[in-house]
Amino acid sequence: MGSLDEALDAVDRVRLASLPTPLQEVPRLANHLGLGKLLVKRDDLTGLAMGGNKARKLEYDFARVLALGSDVVVTVGGAQSNHAAMTAAAARRLGLDVRLVLGGPRVASRRGNLLLDSLFGAEVRYLLDDDDNDSLAAAMEEWVGELRREGRRPYALPIGGSTPEGALGYVRAMRELAAQVGTSFQVVTAVGSCGTFAGSNLGARLFAPEARVVGISVSRSARQVEARTAELIEESAALLGIAPPPCAGPLECHDRFHEGYGVPTESGAEAIRTCARLEGLLLDPYYTGKSMAGLFALARAGLLDAGVPVVFLHTGGLPILFAADGAVDETVPFETVPRRPAPPGGDPGRQGRPA
Ligand SMILES: Cc1ncc(COP(=O)(O)O)c(C=O)c1O
Repeated sequence: MGSLDEALDAVDRVRLASLPTPLQEVPRLANHLGLGKLLVKRDDLTGLAMGGNKARKLEYDFARVLALGSDVVVTVGGAQSNHAAMTAAAARRLGLDVRLVLGGPRVASRRGNLLLDSLFGAEVRYLLDDDDNDSLAAAMEEWVGELRREGRRPYALPIGGSTPEGALGYVRAMRELAAQVGTSFQVVTAVGSCGTFAGSNLGARLFAPEARVVGISVSRSARQVEARTAELIEESAALLGIAPPPCAGPLECHDRFHEGYGVPTESGAEAIRTCARLEGLLLDPYYTGKSMAGLFALARAGLLDAGVPVVFLHTGGLPILFAADGAVDETVPFETVPRRPAPPGGDPGRQGRPA
């Protein structure tokens, strides 16, 4: 393993995440799903901004930003992009400037990640009703050109930070996980731009060859995920100076737990409620609610091996909880108690107190 460890450690990174993240047992949820051992890898606690998987990827992406002497980072995403907000946080932490190209439906107010973007002072160009990846990328290139003409040194970071370098963050994460739980596990993760899934697959093949990596897509078809993930695996392995070791089977990605990016699902809402009530664990409606819904369905269908630890990779995304209407269960009693009338003659004890 020595030279592999060395190859991984030799790739430049900047420290942005608090690592290792905790691995937490969730016994009531395991019992609810009929699983032997269920653990949550708390990458929502990576510590950058409000945590999440992007911190691990950005450690590698920002090493390149610094190596190239860039002074402003431009990136793209949907309105509630965790990647965009965390990129803004990373840029500020390293003393750099940041610009965001975001897209989606008209926003009435800046909530969730949009609030974080504004706190980080990230200038935003918002493509109304257009979060198509090609439109976002074209608008980013345009902005990068303008910045260059102004004499700046911009760095364009692709959607999700899913570069071959960024995926190495999840190669490291699998090494970290193997040290915590052993080399035989089944890990379930949300899949968006595929960097996390690619890094996890490569990392598992390198550091935990008996492990199974299950992806739950939140936007793309399984076929699209497989194609992009395979490319990233090759490119990331090349950065380590190796050919990717062969995998025991095909990549495993399920695409039936989303109804479009950011569209809330009933199974996702059930997963969010169940985790909150059984374990005090928070999930978000765009990513982790859906990946947990996938885990629930696979467990209920007997498609997870009850004898091997199951690890839910909590990839973060919690700011979205505060921006997505309908994520809260409106059926829980919420009783408004009218203010009691003041006793006759007034209540001298209350006078002058703030309400
Ligand atoms: C909270 C959260 N989970 C999962 C993902 C998926 O990660 P990736 O884009 O590497 O596939 C993302 C990013 O899109 C995310 O923000």
